[in-house]
Amino acid sequence: MYFKQILDERCGCASYVIASRQTYEAAIVDPSIMTEQYEALLRERRFRLRYVIDTHVHADHISGARQMATAHNATLCLHEAAQVSYAFRGLKDGEELSLSQLRLRILHTPGHRPEMISILIINPPRSPEPSMVLTGDSLLVGDVGRPDFGGGDAGQQYESLNRLLRLPDWVAVFPGHFEGPCGAGMCGRPSTTVGFERLYNPLARLDKTPFIAKLISEVPARPLNITAIEATNRGLADLPWAMLTTAPSVEEVDLAALESRPDNAFLLDVREPEEYAHGHVPGAINLPQADLATRLAEIPRDRPVFAICQGGVRSLRAAQFLKQVGIGHVVSMRGGTEAWINAGKPVSYGDTTLEKPRVAESEWAHAGVIGHNR
Ligand SMILES: [Fe+2]
Repeated sequence: MYFKQILDERCGCASYVIASRQTYEAAIVDPSIMTEQYEALLRERRFRLRYVIDTHVHADHISGARQMATAHNATLCLHEAAQVSYAFRGLKDGEELSLSQLRLRILHTPGHRPEMISILIINPPRSPEPSMVLTGDSLLVGDVGRPDFGGGDAGQQYESLNRLLRLPDWVAVFPGHFEGPCGAGMCGRPSTTVGFERLYNPLARLDKTPFIAKLISEVPARPLNITAIEATNRGLADLPWAMLTTAPSVEEVDLAALESRPDNAFLLDVREPEEYAHGHVPGAINLPQADLATRLAEIPRDRPVFAICQGGVRSLRAAQFLKQVGIGHVVSMRGGTEAWINAGKPVSYGDTTLEKPRVAESEWAHAGVIGHNR
């Protein structure tokens, strides 16, 4: 067999190419819209693409599944529960797809999303047992996928996690993400084993009630442009540019620069509304990063834009995205609102009846999610 994990550092996503070395038949799982990398691999290896599988409708990156399936006349697969506007082959729990001698067995593992699947890879000439499982966002390394993207269910996530953890110890786990906003506690490794996660995944030892409580109370901010990305992946919109695919340089400014900003500067707070309500720089306008692409018209193109978030990371990515779509006069506030508050500067408050910030600062640091949540 042939197996390759492809990591995308910009969104923390993993995609996979699996093929038979006997017949050159291949499948791609969770491809992103940057399809040239898969095209190059298929050409180089002379693989024939038979299946393109999305483990679920993605919310943090634009899927390249439809594009790849169309280009290669391959079968586009999702779980049968997927709610999308285009045609696909609906997979059922327990069903197997074959690539010559290889078997891809579908496990329905809802929780992150209702249509979430995991894929067991079985290579019978080597073993009748599965040697790997692609888990999408059901089991991550040190975490599980968050259930708050619409249609998710923490109780189902508990059942799905435990179903996966009943697989044999040796089964290698390849998740859909190695970092990023889809789980708060990923350790950063791109793969693990069932045995290791059973022992050391902090969620694996929890009973159902504390598991659910933990999952629904500790969710990071929604990903950049989730509204546009999810609508595009469902086939309800066509906004492929909503994914950050470039890394333009963005100037990071300090507190003094923020204080002395020009009178016509537009101060853009990209945090979640409840974070904004609990303290923001006076004059800041709240437009969450989740909605940036769909509310782009609200950002003036003829004024300097100062992007700010909690700690300076979300605002940097938001500013990169604004540059990607041609809004040039944008800078990011280093240290974010936290630095402003810590310096004793005046703070404005919004509707404090909103729920408290989703993840405590100390937990962000502990969970290793600073890269996307600050
Ligand atoms: Fe996801």
